[in-house]
Amino acid sequence: MRLLSVAASVLSVASLAAGVAWEATPFNPSAIPLAVRSPFLSSCNVLRLGQGSNGNGVPLNGGWPSFWTGQTMAWTGLAYIDGKAYTWMGVPSVSGSNFSQATQKSVNITSTQSIFVLSAGGVDITATFLSPVEPTDLVKQSFPFSYLSVSAASNDGGSHSVSVYVDISGEWLSGSNIWTATWQTTQGAINTHQVQLKSQAEFEEISDVSQYGSIYWSTQKTSGTTIQTGQDIVVRGQFLNHGTLANTFNNNFREISNSWPVFAHAHNLGTVSSKSKPASALFTIGHVRDPAIEYIVQGNTLQDRSLYFWTEYPTVSAGITAFYADFEAATQRANAFDAKVEADANKISPDYAGIVALSIRQVFGAIEITTSKNAFGGYNKNDILVFMKEISSDGNVNTADVMMPAWPLFLYTNPTLGKYMLDVNFRYQATGLYPNKWSAHDIGANYPKATGHNDGLDEAQPVEECGNMLYMALSYAQKTGDNSDLKTYESLLDQWTQYLIEDSLIPANQISTDDFAGSLANQTNLAIKGIVGIGAMAEIHKLLGNTKQSANYTNIVKSYVPQFLNFATSKTGPHLTLAYNQDDTWGLTYNLFGDKLMKLNIFNESLYEMQTAWYASHFNQYGVPLDTRHTYTKSDWQLWTASWVTNTTVRDQFITAVKNFVSDGKFGEPFSDWYDTISGQQSGFQARPVVGGHLALLVLDE
Ligand SMILES: *[C@@H]1O[C@H](CO)[C@@H](O)[C@H](O)[C@H]1NC(C)=O
Ligand SMILES: *[C@@H]1O[C@H](CO)[C@@H](O)[C@H](O)[C@H]1NC(C)=O
Ligand SMILES: *[C@@H]1O[C@H](CO)[C@@H](O)[C@H](O)[C@H]1NC(C)=O
Ligand SMILES: *[C@@H]1O[C@H](CO)[C@@H](O)[C@H](O)[C@H]1NC(C)=O
Ligand SMILES: *[C@@H]1O[C@H](CO)[C@@H](O)[C@H](O)[C@H]1NC(C)=O
Ligand SMILES: *[C@@H]1O[C@H](CO)[C@@H](O)[C@H](O)[C@H]1NC(C)=O
Repeated sequence: MRLLSVAASVLSVASLAAGVAWEATPFNPSAIPLAVRSPFLSSCNVLRLGQGSNGNGVPLNGGWPSFWTGQTMAWTGLAYIDGKAYTWMGVPSVSGSNFSQATQKSVNITSTQSIFVLSAGGVDITATFLSPVEPTDLVKQSFPFSYLSVSAASNDGGSHSVSVYVDISGEWLSGSNIWTATWQTTQGAINTHQVQLKSQAEFEEISDVSQYGSIYWSTQKTSGTTIQTGQDIVVRGQFLNHGTLANTFNNNFREISNSWPVFAHAHNLGTVSSKSKPASALFTIGHVRDPAIEYIVQGNTLQDRSLYFWTEYPTVSAGITAFYADFEAATQRANAFDAKVEADANKISPDYAGIVALSIRQVFGAIEITTSKNAFGGYNKNDILVFMKEISSDGNVNTADVMMPAWPLFLYTNPTLGKYMLDVNFRYQATGLYPNKWSAHDIGANYPKATGHNDGLDEAQPVEECGNMLYMALSYAQKTGDNSDLKTYESLLDQWTQYLIEDSLIPANQISTDDFAGSLANQTNLAIKGIVGIGAMAEIHKLLGNTKQSANYTNIVKSYVPQFLNFATSKTGPHLTLAYNQDDTWGLTYNLFGDKLMKLNIFNESLYEMQTAWYASHFNQYGVPLDTRHTYTKSDWQLWTASWVTNTTVRDQFITAVKNFVSDGKFGEPFSDWYDTISGQQSGFQARPVVGGHLALLVLDE
């Protein structure tokens, strides 16, 4: 089953683009995650299939690794095999040196790893990029580091002497290369290049790259290790010509683009033969800033928050030592996690498993787990908050309607992480500093500044966000049995419900999470979110023992449903409309996912059947449009919809449409959730955490 699907995906890509000659498991996506651990190490993706080459795939050594925005973050991989030099990552140009490109043979993508095999000079070089996903270990998940393991094995039966080299450039430090970098190299059991901007701007970004903090680029020191810093062509040329580095350090601190300083490590792996085990070298890369987040708290003051790993590691270097030593165990945990996700998702389909594998690092790469300091400078270990960046669309902090689409990933991997994320929004709104009666859209306009919206002028999505907070609060409690937030924030939750009671049967002219589609009155899908939200509060009151309020809200829902069906059902076709009284319109009523998730049974089965049959006859090549206003759609909403359709053929059509979109080579960015159903082109957005919604099918049937 699995192998067949591999062959099919290789065939379909090969027929599309003769340039793609490697085997891809599960498929060749638009971009491949390399080191993706935080919004500022959410980063290096290659294989931008689109990249001006009309679907021609880019191997690991066919382009530069880049930040999710597309900005180059040079990461160079070289090998020196029997006296000849090769590139296996990046596209360095070094005149006067003789080298050739290794040939990419395969790429495998799992939930935590991207594994490339390239061949050169009778040797297979395997580059394994492991970005750990550790949902239940807050220290490990919050340590913003990623592994690169490079191994070499003979592939022709012969013996070969092999050295490998990897460098990074200062481009990892800023969204603009005009800034001056400084660096220092520490040599010990582990050699580390630490690189940062000379003038640090706390909590600032340029083009989404942090303007403060340091990159730490490390490897173990062994007898075969050499090291060097200096101008790109000098350092790379040294290795290309000699297979070893000069152990020299150029400390002429300068602009990132001024004679491009690079920071290199090399390992002599000795001789590999058909009889020897593969020889390998391990590297780690991370980006640390402290404080990580600025958060508005009671009394309108700003609190600095630090990444949670500080509660365990006194220094970054102690963290690197522990992270480095943990590689074997981390790999075993990663393999177990990958296998579980794959087994669960494969019960739906291999295409679904591929989509899920490609989505998981993207969500974890958008969050940070933090803690605060106490009056004595120590950490409040029990004060845990998770912050999420609304990557790509606007950089807001903890946007309720971005947390909501991503929510299935949290329910599946660890709902408590979701609670720590929700608590950011609850705590701020419980201070009373936020003036609106509906839920805030987000807790800060620019990550990592979670400074609130005391003026109430955040992007208003009143029904949307009230509904989202209720959906998330109840489904967390149902999944875990922990009602503490329901109790603590009961009055806020009830306040938002009052808003829904007023405004969700006949929703006023407003935007939904799909703000790009424009504002509209009487949106059917918003009414569903609101009515299901009221139903959620009825359940919350029940859990809290407030039987009278629970019964009252249940009655309100019961009285709303037939009125809603009357307003929202088209008179001309068997479907719900996009907006009341517009019989020819329709859209994805993805918010029905909440009714199923929370098992509220507000809407009856015949409604689900009607919608399913309608979508079955409205597929374009890449899926069902979001609504009748445009031909574009959203991948997350398609898979939310797929989670509740009553026909598995239709469910699988949604899944395959999304898989085709992300693997057809029509665009070359990290997983986009917004694209055209006819052309398969990206409409906007990329690398957003909303792809956590692709896990919707994993959380309904448990
Ligand atoms: C470069 O490689 C070519 C072909 O292998 C060889 O003829 C030439 O001598 C090499 N030049 C240098 C400077 O190593
Ligand atoms: C890649 O995946 C294929 C198919 O599952 C498997 O046979 C192969 O061993 C994998 N390669 C690596 C390097 O993990
Ligand atoms: C919204 O729908 C209700 C019920 O059909 C209708 O009375 C009202 O005029 C509609 N509002 C707008 C702005 O279309
Ligand atoms: C039910 O809730 C609505 C909305 O909050 C309120 O106006 C009404 O008085 C409540 N009814 C009862 C019987 O509590
Ligand atoms: C169930 O849904 C159908 C179709 O929307 C509707 O005709 C019927 O009244 C609904 N029944 C109930 C009990 O809501
Ligand atoms: C399920 O959907 C497919 C595709 O539209 C259709 O051919 C099939 O008849 C449907 N099955 C049922 C039981 O409705």
